[in-house]
Amino acid sequence: MLTRGTDVLTGAAAERRAVPGFVAYNLETAQAVAAAAELAGAPVLLQAGSSAFRHTGRDALVELALGVARRSAAPIGVHLDHSRDPEEAAACIAAGYTSVMIDGSHLPFTENVELTRAVVRRAHDAGVWVEGELGAIAGDEDVSTDASGGTMTDPGQAAEFVAATGVDALAVSVGNVHGFTSAPVRLDLDRLADIHELVPVPLVLHGASGLPEEQLLGALDRGVAKVNVNAELRRAYLTAVADRLPEALPASDTVATWAAGRGAVRDTALRIIRLLGRAGTEPAP
Ligand code: 13P
Repeated sequence: MLTRGTDVLTGAAAERRAVPGFVAYNLETAQAVAAAAELAGAPVLLQAGSSAFRHTGRDALVELALGVARRSAAPIGVHLDHSRDPEEAAACIAAGYTSVMIDGSHLPFTENVELTRAVVRRAHDAGVWVEGELGAIAGDEDVSTDASGGTMTDPGQAAEFVAATGVDALAVSVGNVHGFTSAPVRLDLDRLADIHELVPVPLVLHGASGLPEEQLLGALDRGVAKVNVNAELRRAYLTAVADRLPEALPASDTVATWAAGRGAVRDTALRIIRLLGRAGTEPAP
């Protein structure tokens, strides 16, 4: 079922848990995310957007993600990831998305505020919550290259940004990197704690793939209530498909190949949902 509103975030924040934001580019990945949420009995965010639209076309992926979420027994929010375009955000809101990210992190502060505030107004009128970003996250969202670019979020500016824009969640840059990296990533947890101290909304951590477990849990103890995962699902999908291909190719068995990818993504997503739900771990007091 489609779940609306910020309760999913604020509930997680209150218990030092996080809701996963899983990126899906195709049907099998979206179905795998829904299946994992059903097995865990936990809410998830299905992120279908902005860069993936270049691959599928917007309407096709929007309808696919909303359809999978509506048909699922688990509560699923459908979220637009990393959009720089207010018209794209408006189209997703009109189509029925439950949340959108407007990413003005490449802009000077005042322009980021203006862009984000305009999307917040439109989204809130439709009952849709908004994630903004301040400080730019390093790396590429779709292809794991390695850390490049990136500027850290300033805690004081983050508080000003949230107050000026009215965003419901804030994506921060604290050493996190999109995709897998050759050297292990270390988050600046002190900076994250400072941001959490000053910012009244749940924080979002992008770039969770490959992040050591204790770093991830450290972030959950410092206000992170949404964690984005993409590359780890892509790797699970591609590895399973590659393993299956030698057997599948002679018979041109596409169905078995896609099903193998879907199963691997489901298992990976389920492990992450349990980790972020702190199943088997003790939240810090
Ligand atoms: P990863 O690819 O590192 O999991 O990052 C995903 C992400 O942040 C999507 O916005």
